[in-house]
Amino acid sequence: MQDVRNERTLVFIKPDGVQRGLVGEIIGRFERAGLKIVGVKMLQPSRELLDRHYPSAEDFLRTIGGKTTEAFQTYGVDVKGMMGTDDPREIGRQVRAWLIDYVSSAPVVAFVLEGAHAVSVVRKLVGATLPVFANPGTIRGDLAVDAPTVANLAKRPVRNLIHASGTVDEASFEIGLWFRPEELVTYRRADESAMFGE
Ligand code: PPS
Repeated sequence: MQDVRNERTLVFIKPDGVQRGLVGEIIGRFERAGLKIVGVKMLQPSRELLDRHYPSAEDFLRTIGGKTTEAFQTYGVDVKGMMGTDDPREIGRQVRAWLIDYVSSAPVVAFVLEGAHAVSVVRKLVGATLPVFANPGTIRGDLAVDAPTVANLAKRPVRNLIHASGTVDEASFEIGLWFRPEELVTYRRADESAMFGE
């Protein structure tokens, strides 16, 4: 069995996080939790990279469309009136296009974090996709307030500060997409013995 302490995940701080000066705050939260940075870079992602990063598969589009629809319903907003359709797949397609436009429009900070169950721990620290539903204590819950009811009215994607891989398989695909093997490093953190008793 693979040592789960070496699990890796891909994170990037989106243009809103960079432009709001939240890079240090966000990275600091992961470091304080005991996760190790094993790769980091700032770049303006190409549309080609993002086109591969955000799949155009039906189930991905339906998930985005479903979460967006749920938010409209929670606030009693007419989905069809707002988006021109109530088909989650169509809504997902629209939001994906906005997302690619937005994330490719300005620099982001991408990094790879390593640690025990890094994928799920990072998702927990990041919080729910839509900031308006994210719990206090999470990055999105503490640092953002955006919602589809605000964003989609302005024909833009929700600004939720950060991306984090959803599963171990997704993480491995995304790390390969964003980083070359020689851009990733291995080292020991000084507090590892205090955390793991070795
Ligand atoms: S998540 O957080 O990865 O579970 O999000 P998911 O539901 O899988 O959605 C996939 C990506 O779409 C983004 N998303 C949205 N962006 C803008 N506006 C709306 N309404 C919206 N709904 C979903 C979501 O943040 C995911 O992008 P990343 O970059 O992974 O955060």
